[in-house]
This record gives sequence, C-alpha cells and structure tokens, in this order.
Amino acid sequence: MSKVVFVTGAGRGLGTDIVREALAAGHRVVATGRRPEEVEKTLGGPQDNLLTVRLDVTSLEEAQAAAQAAVERFGRIDVLINNAGNFFAGYFEEVSPEHMRRQIETNLFGPMNVTRAVLPVMRAQRDGHVVSISSLAGQVGTEFTAA
Ligand SMILES: NC(=O)c1ccc[n+]([C@@H]2O[C@H](COP(=O)([O-])OP(=O)(O)OC[C@H]3O[C@@H](n4cnc5c(N)ncnc54)[C@H](OP(=O)(O)O)[C@@H]3O)[C@@H](O)[C@H]2O)c1
Repeated sequence: MSKVVFVTGAGRGLGTDIVREALAAGHRVVATGRRPEEVEKTLGGPQDNLLTVRLDVTSLEEAQAAAQAAVERFGRIDVLINNAGNFFAGYFEEVSPEHMRRQIETNLFGPMNVTRAVLPVMRAQRDGHVVSISSLAGQVGTEFTAA
C-alpha cells in the first residue's frame, strides 16, 4: 500500500537513496532540503509522487510549513525519516564554538523540530512512524568526535 514518506536532508547521501527507494517502491515522497531546487534536480525533476519542499531542520517554522505542504499535497504523513545531519570532526579544542552549536542545533534539535511539526498530523491519523537516524559517533566517544 502506498505510504507518504517525509525525508529530511534529501538532496544528497543517504537521504537521496531513501527517496529513490521509496519512489521505486510506489510510495509518495516529500523530499526536503535547504536547497529544494537542487533536491528536485538530484531526484530527476518533477514527478507526480514527489513533492520537494525547503526545510532547514534548525527552523521550527520551516518544519511546520513543510508538514503543512505535505498534508496539502498528499493528505497525510505516514513515515517521517529524520535523516539530515552534519558532522564536525576534530579534537575538542579544534571544533569552534559555532560548529559545536551547529552540530547540536542540526543533529539534536533539528529532528525535534521536524518531529514536533509532524506528530500532530500522525496523532490525528492515529497512525505513523518516526525514524531518526543517529550515529555510533553520537553514542560512543572516540577521538575526533567530541561534537
Ligand atoms: N555517512 C556515514 O558514515 C554516517 C554514519 C553514521 C550516521 N550517519 C548519519 O546518517 C545521516 C545521513 O548521512 P549522510 O552520510 O547521507 O550525510 P551527507 O551525505 O553529509 O548528507 C547530509 C544531508 O543532511 C543535510 N543537512 C545538513 N544540515 C541540514 C540542515 N540544517 N537542514 C536540512 N538538511 C541538512 C544536507 O543538506 P545540504 O546538501 O543542504 O548540506 C545533506 O542532504 C546523517 O544523519 C548522519 O549523521 C552517517
């Protein structure tokens, strides 16, 4: 059965692969990214089952607007995949305060923003899945992974 899959960070890397697989499996996809034109180009242009929307996950307002756009186009959101992430590597004293803050804003508060925007839709449906992609580097301290 066709689901509506909402993916963050869809313009490159794993996010692009997830979108391609979901479309190939017959699902409808909301592919989001900071540069939606680039996301659409990467995915091969406009398609009936594809909506590309601007979403910087550090912005709750953009997350809410993207969730609204998804519902307006497809009527629901079945699966949220919190994929967007960044990685500032280096010894602690080499990671600037600005990079440290961006890491936390993107990898921690980012998924919270998007989940906060999407959960009301799922609660109204009484159905939905949230998948948040983490990293071993976020769970186990090793050299270069202070952030
Ligand atoms: N690759 C690995 O070895 C590895 C290992 C463990 C975990 N992971 C996790 O797997 C996920 C995908 O990794 P990947 O290797 O595919 O990463 P990637 O190739 O570096 O792509 C990261 C994606 O996240 C997006 N992004 C970054 N900051 C964003 C923001 N503030 N708002 C919206 N989008 C943002 C990027 O968009 P732009 O194009 O706009 O920058 C890009 O689309 C990440 O959560 C990562 O932490 C990866």
